[in-house]
Amino acid sequence: MHKKNIISIFAETNHFVIMKIQQIIFCLLTASMLASAAMAQGNRADYRVVPLPDRIDGIMSADFKLTEQCLVNYPTGNRDMERNATMLSEYIEDLSGLHLSTRPTLNEKDRAGNITLHFDPKMESDEGYRITVTARSVEICGKTAAGVFHGIQTLRKSIPVGQATAINLPAAQVVSNPRFSYRGMHLDCVRHFFPVSTVKRYIDLLALHGMNRLHWHLTDDQGWRVEIKKYPRLTEVGGWRNGTTLGHNSPVNDGIRYGGFYTQEEIRDIVRYAADRYITIIPEIDMPGHMVAAMTAYPELGCTGGPYEVWTLWGVTDDILCVGKDHTLQFVKDVLDEVIQLFPSEYIHIGGDESPRVRWQECPLCQQRIRDLGLKANDKQSAEALLQGWFTTQVQQYLTEHGRRIIGWDELLGCDVNTSATIMSWRGAEPGAEGANLGHDVIMTPVGPLYFDYYQTSKTWNEPMAFGGCNTLKKVYDFEPVAADLPADKRSHIIGVQANVWTEYITCEPQIQYQVLPRMAALAEVQWLPSEQKDYQDFKARLPRLAEIYKHYGWTYRAKSLVHEEDEDQPNQ
Ligand code: ACM
Ligand code: ZN
Repeated sequence: MHKKNIISIFAETNHFVIMKIQQIIFCLLTASMLASAAMAQGNRADYRVVPLPDRIDGIMSADFKLTEQCLVNYPTGNRDMERNATMLSEYIEDLSGLHLSTRPTLNEKDRAGNITLHFDPKMESDEGYRITVTARSVEICGKTAAGVFHGIQTLRKSIPVGQATAINLPAAQVVSNPRFSYRGMHLDCVRHFFPVSTVKRYIDLLALHGMNRLHWHLTDDQGWRVEIKKYPRLTEVGGWRNGTTLGHNSPVNDGIRYGGFYTQEEIRDIVRYAADRYITIIPEIDMPGHMVAAMTAYPELGCTGGPYEVWTLWGVTDDILCVGKDHTLQFVKDVLDEVIQLFPSEYIHIGGDESPRVRWQECPLCQQRIRDLGLKANDKQSAEALLQGWFTTQVQQYLTEHGRRIIGWDELLGCDVNTSATIMSWRGAEPGAEGANLGHDVIMTPVGPLYFDYYQTSKTWNEPMAFGGCNTLKKVYDFEPVAADLPADKRSHIIGVQANVWTEYITCEPQIQYQVLPRMAALAEVQWLPSEQKDYQDFKARLPRLAEIYKHYGWTYRAKSLVHEEDEDQPNQ
């Protein structure tokens, strides 16, 4: 009895202990399953990035597990794809800590368990991409290495930011083709000068957002920023100004000598850095206006002969190049000779904006040129406007002989330049529509809403000083570059969209980033998505994940734009 009792007590205790152990194991298992489910969720890629791909079609397959065992394959012997593979590996390591090696291979069998970059000549557009993910492999393909690069950016943006030992990539086919072939950002490095490192990081922003053109504003009244060997005074003298006005053209000058320029070696380095990211740099040498820095260095370039002073104010000055002198034309050609050596871009931007003609009206040489050319004022154009057209055509012909094409600001529409000039529409979208109707190719960069030096809110009191206006994130997102009433046969003349960043009031890199982020994200969807696919609320829901990447790289951005909807009660300009 005693013995039996002891046994039974022991058995009961044993049973109790076993039950407890079972309960603990159950709890542990549940907890670990929940934790790993949460982990899987937290470490699961999401292809709904910015800009949103055209299509994301699920595939019946388990997730692909991305770990350090995976390789990034690229076609043997292809330097562009090798660089693409290296960049993808670096992006993944930046964002997750996972280090993936790269490997050249043409062997299909090597795809299992790895990421493979390859070409598909049958793809729809040059810059489109297709990402195919199954449990077995990941493939990123494009017709060109640029297309593959855009696919790489999408994969990069889809993975969660944070240290990981593995990332689950859902099985899917992701396809996208950009709506516009010209997808640009502009940067003014004259009004304020930025070091090479800042320009390169700006190029990094373009790459992340799927853009392919950097319009680089290099010369203006307030400074000449590109070394020209034949005219060393352009940078020695024209690269520096005696102080800068405070605020919006106040009478107060800070009295601090300010300037800088890029050597030809630095420019080549930047051009290469951009090209590695499939971004073409289009230099702007603004003429015949916005030339006071050059005229300070070489006063004979102006109608009065000077003396001139590199401008310390903002705005538009009456002093422009004298086009009555043959010497001026020779100067322009000499400068362009060096510019085209530095920039392989087919397009060279020759400005043409804001050129008052009062000096020409008074200059005997310019008036003589008008007479020699037989230019006659008509209902719409003064003889001086036609003189700007003649000058622009001379420059255009010179660049054409050298295999290049011009872009000019929309003022050129009033000067009778021929339709092989591409027009950049900035004084609204209407000049762009007019240009397209005339047969010009057009890039849309209207002040409203695509001047990113404008405020992002009407409540400006807590904002860094900006030009003015109010170009909210939503206004950028809602911008439609092709006017509804543009005839069908003219619509293809709208080749692209770009936002401009003038830097009168932008003095440092974080301020550049603050002005452009996150508005670049909205612009990227304008540039990539068919208008019927755009959805602002959906975009806003996807934006925080992109902002995680901004944060990760330490980029400054306007976080408020992610949360608040700015009111729309302010006009654009
Ligand atoms: C411009 O903003 N003057 C093109
Ligand atoms: Zn003149």
